[in-house]
Amino acid sequence: MSTNTTSIDRYAVFGHPIKHSKSPRIHRLFAEQTGQSLHYEAREVTPEQFLSAVNAFFAEGGKGLNCTVPLKELAFAFAGRTTPRAGFSKAVNTLALQPDGSILGDNTDGQGLVTDLVRNHALNLENTKILILGAGGASRGILGPLIEQAPAEVVIANRTTGKAVGLAAEFAELGAIRGCGFDDLNGLEFDLILNATSASLSGQLPPLPENLLAEHGSCYDLAYGNEPTAFVRWGQAHRAVKSLDGLGMLVEQAAEAFYLWRGVRPETRPVIEWLNAERNDREFP
Ligand code: ATR
Repeated sequence: MSTNTTSIDRYAVFGHPIKHSKSPRIHRLFAEQTGQSLHYEAREVTPEQFLSAVNAFFAEGGKGLNCTVPLKELAFAFAGRTTPRAGFSKAVNTLALQPDGSILGDNTDGQGLVTDLVRNHALNLENTKILILGAGGASRGILGPLIEQAPAEVVIANRTTGKAVGLAAEFAELGAIRGCGFDDLNGLEFDLILNATSASLSGQLPPLPENLLAEHGSCYDLAYGNEPTAFVRWGQAHRAVKSLDGLGMLVEQAAEAFYLWRGVRPETRPVIEWLNAERNDREFP
């Protein structure tokens, strides 16, 4: 290893697969913008490799780590201490070395989503009816920060109804929340529908009633891609005021992690614009 990389603070993202991760680029842009000197790389790490990889990373002087699919639950189990929002989500996407040598686990996904919705897209969540499609890890990660926005009601709908009901019960002490199956959505209307199923990326959609989205309602897919996802297209076809994908959330969760590590808040707007320009125009540098 060169002296250059040993003297500079080191960060990484672990995941499987990780090849197409935008995180190294996002953190490089944040570092440039804020004048922070750091090195951030992506590493392919399977669940079987996770424990030895994470121990080696911190033993070799690593300062902070992002963990993505499918490692967030393992990262939660690894962290010596977690923030309350990570505790509720039982998943960690950010590990940060503390001054006393311990490792703090945080989950910045939910705050990243809320910042994108509220600040970047000017959506007011207070007193609104929110529907979340899916009851897996992605839903669990966003529920706490969403409920903090004081919506009138949060409904979780899932293919496997029992999982939605169970997940809602875990968060019941935080606010008005309930779980149901897709069949139970008939006749209901929501101001905001979030897709947190893993179906959208493969072009699939849960079966949704035609009139599910209220007038002036918006849609948000936690997933993102170079082309609009199936759920973004569903929102457009159902007259959503905004039908957004998760690129903004990706950048905002990274900014929260950057702040936890460096104590500096990067400006996210230019980075989101840069990534958007890149996917709209493949010629962009
Ligand atoms: P993640 O961490 O991305 O949330 P997960 O924990 O495996 O991944 O959860 C995937 C979610 O997408 C689940 O809610 C799953 O529904 P089930 O709990 O019934 O399995 C949902 N999902 C996946 N494929 C789906 C499809 N084709 N239609 C509807 N829901 C789907």
